[in-house]
Amino acid sequence: MTNLLYINASPRGDLSAANQAALIFTDALADSVQVNRLDLFEAKLPEVTLEITAAKMKFAMGLDLDEEEARQWTAITNLVSQFVEADDYLFTIPMWNFNIPYKLKQYIDLITHPGLTFTSDENGPRGLASGRATLIYSRGGDYSPKDGKPDPFDFQSPYMNAWTRLVGLDPVSEVRVQKTMAGPDALNETLDAQKSQLTVLAKEMG
Ligand SMILES: Cc1cc2nc3c(=O)[nH]c(=O)nc-3n(C[C@H](O)[C@H](O)[C@H](O)COP(=O)(O)O)c2cc1C
Repeated sequence: MTNLLYINASPRGDLSAANQAALIFTDALADSVQVNRLDLFEAKLPEVTLEITAAKMKFAMGLDLDEEEARQWTAITNLVSQFVEADDYLFTIPMWNFNIPYKLKQYIDLITHPGLTFTSDENGPRGLASGRATLIYSRGGDYSPKDGKPDPFDFQSPYMNAWTRLVGLDPVSEVRVQKTMAGPDALNETLDAQKSQLTVLAKEMG
């Protein structure tokens, strides 16, 4: 059995273009893949507090946490365990102001810690998670690379590529669902255009 962690960063439920694309992907998964969905806008993620920042520093330096720090740090280690224990990953990521939604950034800030999701040695950082990642980006506009150069307003793809690699996910595949605000026909067209890539990526899981 393969455990696929589906991290959804859209609050728009079934209306979400990224999640409509994700449905094509999950429908094509083998029966041996079990999907565990984490809806970031419903998950009541903890805030990054004074105690959590203190615990992060102390944990990194091998120092003891006080009682309240330890209590709050448990919420972090629970989220980290759920993340690193997954075999493979699916992310649905709307573009918000050229970047990722704040709930996904909050989640990343909550789970990214030296000694938990990555470590460093003389060769640089090394991820402590592993598995394939499929990143589905939904965007109102078109931010495809042009003439071999990345779109200068696309801060989703460079950031998510850097972060997924930091924590050890590999390979990382990106699916762009674009022009989502040009009406239902255009949305169906863009979903159709991504169908074969989504199906191929789904078949590689498990
Ligand atoms: C807060 C907010 C900011 C947005 N910023 C951008 C943007 O910078 N560029 C863009 O092309 N679309 C932008 N959009 C449109 C969304 O990217 C587009 O509707 C996308 O399909 C949303 O993903 P979803 O349907 O999976 O939720 C924004 C939408 C919202 C709600």
